[in-house]
Amino acid sequence: MTDLELVRLALNARKNSYSPYSKYSVGAALLCGDDSIFLGCNIENASYPCGICAERTAMSKALSEGKKSFKTIAIAGSSGQKCTPCGLCRQFMFEFAPELRILCSDSEGNFSVKKLNELLPEGFGPHSL
Ligand code: THU
Repeated sequence: MTDLELVRLALNARKNSYSPYSKYSVGAALLCGDDSIFLGCNIENASYPCGICAERTAMSKALSEGKKSFKTIAIAGSSGQKCTPCGLCRQFMFEFAPELRILCSDSEGNFSVKKLNELLPEGFGPHSL
């Protein structure tokens, strides 16, 4: 699975986005340590804070299926700006994969490669307690 292939899966995962409020659809594709892949999309709610982002959807699906190791996540938005993970998602993912590679894509598949611990320096995690 190449980075570009993972980005294409994330772009395609936007099709199930439920985003009537922001009208900004996001898709995510998470490559696990065993090379399995979990997809996610953003799911909004009339009570706005109840919504969930695409990357937390994907990682929660993987975690709930017993996956514990994560290599790379692609996140694709629906604008000309590359979609970087929100602060809450950075913290959520840091718990399980501080070294995670993150592919941040715009709506055309142009992407940048980041590391989670670069986007969340000095993050608070299990070893902080
Ligand atoms: N969103 C994501 O799904 N992932 C991100 O990394 C950024 C934001 C969603 C949340 C909300 O449904 C919409 O994009 C606008 O903020």
